Amino acid sequence: MMAAVVTGRCFGVGVGPGDPELMTVKALRILRTSPAVAYFSATGRSSNARQIVSEFLTPDQEELHLVYPVTTEGLPMGQDYEAVMAKFYDASADRVAGVLSRGQDVAVLCEGDPLFHGSFMYLHNRLSDRFPTEVVPGVPSILAGSAVLGTPLVCLDEVLSVLSGTLNPADLEARLVESDAAVIMKVGRNLEKVRQAVTRAGLLNRAWYVERATMAGERVMRLDQVDPASSPYFSMVVIPSRLAPTR
Ligand SMILES: C[S@@+](CC[C@H](N)C(=O)[O-])C[C@H]1O[C@@H](n2cnc3c(N)ncnc32)[C@H](O)[C@@H]1O
Repeated sequence: MMAAVVTGRCFGVGVGPGDPELMTVKALRILRTSPAVAYFSATGRSSNARQIVSEFLTPDQEELHLVYPVTTEGLPMGQDYEAVMAKFYDASADRVAGVLSRGQDVAVLCEGDPLFHGSFMYLHNRLSDRFPTEVVPGVPSILAGSAVLGTPLVCLDEVLSVLSGTLNPADLEARLVESDAAVIMKVGRNLEKVRQAVTRAGLLNRAWYVERATMAGERVMRLDQVDPASSPYFSMVVIPSRLAPTR
């Protein structure tokens, strides 16, 4: 009888919003026992997820650095973003599969939670039918945002809207008008558009800007105080519960 081939396991490991102490005990255990780690980053940038866990990595761990080939803004003429990214995720999954096929576990490092606006979803759907795969949830950035503000996000029967700063201004405003409370992610270069939508929705007086929550360089201020030129990718707007005590 042929011996069964034992493959490694693929873990999508949520490493939390920035402070390494916000990793779960399980995430840390898997990180420490995985012979290989994988992480995404933009071209020419280091990975924020890797940065969060850097103190726990050891030189004998294999590192698979998966570098996005393009951004939506930097796409060469004539190229289809979805097609380019699909090819990149295929190639990334192949690299991870190569290690798993050798029988070694891979921890895919994911900032915040792996399946909350996380690229891990693209590896998960390419690998989970071929290899044992597990998702280790992490503290999502939106909860770090309300924590650093010290303000309830939602109370009682309120509904929270999680929106993206990449939405077009009219859609953003319409969604905000209907929201009890909201978090707008992917602010960065969209800051001025986001601020105008928040203003038109009549919510500027409740809106906070949170940058690099729980990381070095964290900044918290009212949205109307932010210089749009200074807003990085790791920033969000938090419009807390309308029932929250005001500051
Ligand atoms: C691709 S999403 C990743 C979300 C992540 N998977 C999570 O669970 O929070 C990236 C966006 O998350 C937000 N973000 C992530 N970490 C943050 C932090 N520490 N402080 C502020 N915003 C953060 C920003 O809005 C950023 O543009």
